[in-house]
Amino acid sequence: MAITETTREEAQALALRYPVARAALLPILHLVQSVDGYVSDEGMALAAEVLGLTRAEVGAVATFYTMYKREPVGNYLLSVCTNPTCKIAGAQAIYEAYVEACGGRHVDPDGAGVMVEHAECLGICDAAPVVQINYEMYGPVTHDEAMGLLNAAKAGEPPASNRSGHVPATFTAVEREFSGIDDGVHDQLVEAARLQAAAAVPPAYRTGETDLPVTHPGGDPSGHGGAAFRAAFDTPPGSPPAPQEQEVVEELAATGTDTAQELAQQVTGDDAATPDAVLPAADQPPVVPSSDPDDATEEA
Ligand code: FES
Repeated sequence: MAITETTREEAQALALRYPVARAALLPILHLVQSVDGYVSDEGMALAAEVLGLTRAEVGAVATFYTMYKREPVGNYLLSVCTNPTCKIAGAQAIYEAYVEACGGRHVDPDGAGVMVEHAECLGICDAAPVVQINYEMYGPVTHDEAMGLLNAAKAGEPPASNRSGHVPATFTAVEREFSGIDDGVHDQLVEAARLQAAAAVPPAYRTGETDLPVTHPGGDPSGHGGAAFRAAFDTPPGSPPAPQEQEVVEELAATGTDTAQELAQQVTGDDAATPDAVLPAADQPPVVPSSDPDDATEEA
């Protein structure tokens, strides 16, 4: 397959899930990898275009993380952990036998299309030696069992994992799952991003050094992404703002500036909202959104 207009639309949809568009780079790279079977030049160009990045910035990420492949994987990626515990248990010999079986290459030219690679510790050292097929774990495996996994993958019929019981999906199917595009919570994530962007506060609120408001969250990347990304799955549209948003609006309201009003309007989605619309009543505790998805559905 090749990158299509549908891929572009899906990449743009992924970008909407983040208050700062460039944060969507990793899922978009998984998306383009699900189309081409690797991160192609065309896929990197698409990511750069959609996110407003340079190709160098995209390439720096795509070549840093080992889950992004720069050559076609085929249907199955076999990863052999060669860290000490597995190595001692025979993994190095398995890895070398895999490469030899692929004609001294990491990509087997025959059968269903197989790539082999060595991997760092996969986190289940007690099951050493460990092999993965498209990230499904197998371990412990004997040398013969490991060779059987390779042959089964080459034949397009990998067995179920002896850890999860799952039969590995093809590499492109797994990559599409990793992209998250079919996770069924797109609208909630877009709303979460909107709330996150709305909760962006002027630097004055954070630092006291300036009163210039941040007019776009992309203007100040600090505090966004990673562990700092506040989960807002349980704040459906129209529900009361999360405590952090109330706290921000409350403090800004105390300053008497227009910024409090603007923020209240962003948080509520109501152009006529005043700060009072999102502040808890004086005798009411702050609203704590439920963590129960069923409650969120009912409230919506
Ligand atoms: S060393 Fe192989 S799983 Fe940890």
